Amino acid sequence: MENPFKFGGIVRGPFFADRKQELDELSREMINLSRIFLISPRRYGKTCLLFNLMDRLDEIGIASAYIDLNAYPGLGNLAEAYTHRTTKALETNTDKLIKIFSSLRLLRPKISVGLNGSMSAGVEVAVQEKASLSALIEGMNNANRLAAQQNRKLVVIIDEFSDLTKFNGQGLEKALRSEVQQHEHIGYIFSGSEESVMLSMVKDRKRAFYKLGRIMGLGHIERNRYTDFIMDWLGKGDYTADRNDLQKLFDLGNDIPHNIQRLCHNMWEIARENRVVVPELIDQLPMIIAQQDSPHYELVWRSVSQQQKKLLMALSAEDDSKPFSKDFQLTYGIGPSSSIKASLDSLVKKGILYKTTEGKYQFSDTFMPCWIDYIGDKKQCW
Ligand SMILES: Nc1ncnc2c1ncn2[C@@H]1O[C@H](COP(=O)(O)OP(=O)(O)OP(=O)(O)O)[C@@H](O)[C@H]1O
Ligand SMILES: [Mg+2]
Repeated sequence: MENPFKFGGIVRGPFFADRKQELDELSREMINLSRIFLISPRRYGKTCLLFNLMDRLDEIGIASAYIDLNAYPGLGNLAEAYTHRTTKALETNTDKLIKIFSSLRLLRPKISVGLNGSMSAGVEVAVQEKASLSALIEGMNNANRLAAQQNRKLVVIIDEFSDLTKFNGQGLEKALRSEVQQHEHIGYIFSGSEESVMLSMVKDRKRAFYKLGRIMGLGHIERNRYTDFIMDWLGKGDYTADRNDLQKLFDLGNDIPHNIQRLCHNMWEIARENRVVVPELIDQLPMIIAQQDSPHYELVWRSVSQQQKKLLMALSAEDDSKPFSKDFQLTYGIGPSSSIKASLDSLVKKGILYKTTEGKYQFSDTFMPCWIDYIGDKKQCW
């Protein structure tokens, strides 16, 4: 039997754990064609949730289009992708697609023929880059009109929404807001992980998306329900485990679904032979993962200064470290606070640490402190 605990990609269907409540809620909101801002820290499962939502919407006849802003370097690419995906979600017939694309003013059809002679219809911007915002707006209006003509509901999902600022800033935000507000046949989900960026986009009175829709925060998966999911798969694979022992997985993985999946994936592989999960096995998992990712950590380690390495080692040694306290600085021989602040800022900028809303500094990668402990033991000094 294949390992049912998938990680790193889009996890769907029976391999997707829980999120029933969130799926129900989002489905209801989309049936009402609402506008939702979906926000969570990284790797909590927003993208997976959205793909599972699209499967659900498909079952009830609601069309959907997914757009990852991260994938498009320019506004022109975004205009093409938006127009293509939304139109294709509503119309699958190639001839009709070409006809729709031909009717646009600022975009034109792009026809390609596959090796087997089959024809497919794409779309490209027919104007210069500086006019691509108008092309995007034309594409958005086209989607709304088409949905109205077909008497269908369309859901547009824009993932990595905080990347919007990379295009041309607030001019684009304003234009989008006014379009989104006018669309009566489209529900929108804007999803993003950079909490502060996303929140400032929707909570700042001066920003275009202020109060445009409801904010839905995605928390971690409730432990009991996640345990049911894990126990269920272990049972199907003829593994024996005590559900109380599995609680340790959530502490080790900080309740981040990506981490839990990864821990479970390794747990499944290690216990494959005798099919028994014991607490000692679970305890080993973070170190096993840290070693698997060692090449990546080595690169990260090489990219930081000596002083930053010392600080990272100190932070990894304590669960709830207070880098600006005298005690902490004396114990680890680091300081003063001003240079610690500069190091912390630089480590956050590099993505190695992140600052929580309570102002604490944590490792972006939960298993990195394990690797740091490991090298600290192996090689006494760096
Ligand atoms: N409900 C779930 N069931 C099983 N695995 C999940 C679930 N949610 C998340 N995961 C795991 O976590 C990984 C990360 O999920 P996903 O990419 O959806 O997170 P994200 O919030 O979109 O992250 P980012 O903010 O980095 O884009 C997935 O590859 C998958 O392994
Ligand atoms: Mg994502």
